[in-house]
Amino acid sequence: MINPFVKCGLAALLVLPLIATGAVAAEAGPADLAIARNLATMLQSARAVVSVNQDLINDPALGDKGLTGAAVLEKAIANYSKATGRDPNTIDPASYEGRLIQAQMDAVVEVMDANQSTINAKGVGFKGFIPATFTRLVAEAFEARVGEEASMKFTAPPVLIRNRKARPDTFEAAAIRDYLEAADWPKGQIYSAMVSEGGQERARIMVPEYYVPSCLTCHGAPAGELDITGYPKEGAHEGDLGGVISIGLIPQ
Ligand code: HEC
Repeated sequence: MINPFVKCGLAALLVLPLIATGAVAAEAGPADLAIARNLATMLQSARAVVSVNQDLINDPALGDKGLTGAAVLEKAIANYSKATGRDPNTIDPASYEGRLIQAQMDAVVEVMDANQSTINAKGVGFKGFIPATFTRLVAEAFEARVGEEASMKFTAPPVLIRNRKARPDTFEAAAIRDYLEAADWPKGQIYSAMVSEGGQERARIMVPEYYVPSCLTCHGAPAGELDITGYPKEGAHEGDLGGVISIGLIPQ
């Protein structure tokens, strides 16, 4: 149990002068970081199901792909359980974390079910249903479900942004520029900060993701050449910061 004075009053007193000089902001607490990590893992677990089924999704000869919301969620839960050692359905659904993880699982089902006619269209090869689009749609569906309770966005460094909806806000752009893209930032390390938004305290957590070779068919060289989705490639390299799962929470 954290003394509320220590959490709000003292922390603010200590931290504000530092923020003013741009030096250091308070990090999110361990409970917030754990929840954000689990939400990011669920998003990655579901996206991995879309990734491994990309050839199936792109198959023009096949109609029904069997990738219903329920089928994808089942595989996502298996991936998540393997990664975390915990079945997400055992998280108390009445708790803050439980509500958020349930909302995210519901969002996965919603997005898959809403895209069945696209995915199952016969005679169409590439359908534009790719992991990045899926990730954005799940984040949007999650936000619609949780309202003010939390936020989630799959964003990226501004020069890489393809979809306007994914643009980083002021906080995200600064966190990417000053921390995640800094030469000495440890690869994979989460950046977090406590911020005040509209008079409300928020824990903002940025989970970095890096380009792997499979990304570069669309995001790699040569810069400017159109990829299969019709966007100009960015000329990125393996290991570059490619994106960020950005999560906002009510501090726990
Ligand atoms: C088939 C081509 C393709 C591949 C492969 C691909 N992407 Fe993308 N990526 C896209 C498209 C198209 C969008 C825009 C999606 C949308 O409209 O939301 C996008 C969007 C993104 C975004 C969201 C921000 C934005 O620009 O809108 C990130 C982050 C991202 N990709 C990272 C990656 C990473 C990391 C990988 C590899 C694991 C990857 N992409 C693989 C095509 C691709």
